[in-house]
Amino acid sequence: MAAVTLLEARDLTRHFGGLKAVNGVDFELAEGEIHALIGPNGAGKTTFVSLLCGRIPVQSGTIRFDGADITRLPAHKRVRRGIAYTFQITQVFANLSVFDNVALAVQRRGGRLDVDTRAALDRVGLADRAGQIAGTLSYGHQRVLEIAMGLALDPRLLILDEPTQGLANAEIDIFKTLVRQVVPDTTVLLIEHNMDVVMDLAQRITVLNFGEVLATGTPGDIRANPAVQAAYLGG
Ligand SMILES: Nc1ncnc2c1ncn2[C@@H]1O[C@H](COP(=O)(O)OP(=O)(O)OP(=O)(O)O)[C@@H](O)[C@H]1O
Ligand SMILES: [Mg+2]
Repeated sequence: MAAVTLLEARDLTRHFGGLKAVNGVDFELAEGEIHALIGPNGAGKTTFVSLLCGRIPVQSGTIRFDGADITRLPAHKRVRRGIAYTFQITQVFANLSVFDNVALAVQRRGGRLDVDTRAALDRVGLADRAGQIAGTLSYGHQRVLEIAMGLALDPRLLILDEPTQGLANAEIDIFKTLVRQVVPDTTVLLIEHNMDVVMDLAQRITVLNFGEVLATGTPGDIRANPAVQAAYLGG
């Protein structure tokens, strides 16, 4: 299977004052893959995906998505082109129902409100909780709801920033099943600290350290890489 490149970042840079949060990063996503982005706290992972989705403007470098240069495109236009993301901090609307949370996302991309909302809820296994107020869901279900909100945008690329943080093991299993179901129609870029989840799900892994790419490769490559072991995986 020849890999088609869905997203390509070249020499991507974002500094905050003297802090080189993202510094000359080259990165490629193959269509249909699950790609994990790992690295120590403060390595620049969230900043990097914020550049990809347009939440933070790029200082230099280029981003190409599906063949087009999107470097200067505002975030909402990137959503329309098929880039969806969930943030590190839970962002459901606590006072709205599960259905309405997802319906808002469907509305954002101009989808068929009822049909597409039900489909997204079905996809993540929350259909039977459609009427429940989101704030009363368990923490794990709220994270799953966020993924449904991302999927409701019918994205080509779904970016998940630490989706399993705070989840119980049973919820992590549900999450893994969910991610496996969305590929290859949707490509997944996953920021994750749980190495069991990373090694289990990802076909390829990129390691960031001090804003730069330390290594990219298969789970086997990354596990065996001495520089990655020293910087992140530890002894
Ligand atoms: N808006 C900002 N202004 C100033 N500094 C920032 C800003 N956002 C991030 N930083 C800094 O940039 C560096 C990279 O932060 P970032 O949040 O991207 O790391 P991360 O790899 O996502 O870390 P974590 O694993 O803890 O989520 C950190 O030193 C952080 O303090
Ligand atoms: Mg982060």
